[in-house]
Amino acid sequence: MKEKISKLGLIIENLTAKTLDDVEVLRIKYLSKKGEISALFDNFRNVPNEQKREIGQLLNVLRDRALNKINDLRENLSANAQNTEKQDFTRSAESLELGARHPLSLVRNEIIDIFSRIGFSVASGPEIEDDWHVFGALNFPPEHPARDMQDTFFIEKNPDILLRTHTSSVQTRVMTSQKPPIRVLCPGRVYRNEAISYRAHCFFHQVEGLYIDKNVSFADLKQALLYFAKEMFGEDTQIRLRPSYFPFTEPSAEMDISCKICGGKGCPFCKHTGWVEILGCGMVDSNVLDECGIDSKIYSGYAFGMGVERIANLKFQVKDLRLFSENDMRFLRQFK
Ligand code: DAH
Repeated sequence: MKEKISKLGLIIENLTAKTLDDVEVLRIKYLSKKGEISALFDNFRNVPNEQKREIGQLLNVLRDRALNKINDLRENLSANAQNTEKQDFTRSAESLELGARHPLSLVRNEIIDIFSRIGFSVASGPEIEDDWHVFGALNFPPEHPARDMQDTFFIEKNPDILLRTHTSSVQTRVMTSQKPPIRVLCPGRVYRNEAISYRAHCFFHQVEGLYIDKNVSFADLKQALLYFAKEMFGEDTQIRLRPSYFPFTEPSAEMDISCKICGGKGCPFCKHTGWVEILGCGMVDSNVLDECGIDSKIYSGYAFGMGVERIANLKFQVKDLRLFSENDMRFLRQFK
């Protein structure tokens, strides 16, 4: 019996088949009810009792090997059969589905690119901040409305910890950790407690710029911003600076660019003024420099901050801000 089992084992190990029909013939020959292995099992009752344990194990192993062998043969043949059916050497290669960058990343990267050409490097800071970095150091009086619960998300039970409402907080981080000359760009996400609509969201993106050195003037600021506007929106773009107020800059201004849609003639997009606002800016307030450990008698600087969504709207004419955060493929695919 043992000999029979090992002989059959060898034969099964070396079985081959050319077609699926061959495999079926082999299966019947060895594994069907009347097959050779079943015959051995039938003989099992004649095995002397003291050998039953050993022979039983050998028989089980033999049957498993035969099952595996038949399955392997069948799988190989059916995989090959599919391959030959599918092969069509005249067919052109399948095109790869390429992803696209998010429009906000495209715009942010372009802003970084433009300013890096005039010496700005990138700095970052935390989105969860403390009051001092977001407001205190930036000359916000304690009762300033921007600190109000309605605008700022505070962390429960600790009003000192909040989600930054602007990337100007990174200015604070840079000024307290670096010595002038400082020339940085701080891109990042900011949070405000706003009702979500087509024109406002509870989070959005800003890029902040900061330049501090000896003898930095408002003319330097204007020159840098004009360069940026022309690079971003085209050589024929004009800029206009309007006086404004921010606690951390003095003097402060808001910058408009000539409307890209009507070319300055006036249209619904620019509310018939020919201008659209794109950023806030100004000379860093001496209080801010001193609070951050930079001597305002020696150094001066400018800062500016812009909304990435705003710039993306102007570039791509996206009317609904919510599209930027919905991950709708029909929208995102258009930016390939
Ligand atoms: N932090 C301001 C905001 O969120 C934007 C801003 C205005 C930044 C003027 C500046 C600046 O650096 O000088 O509305």
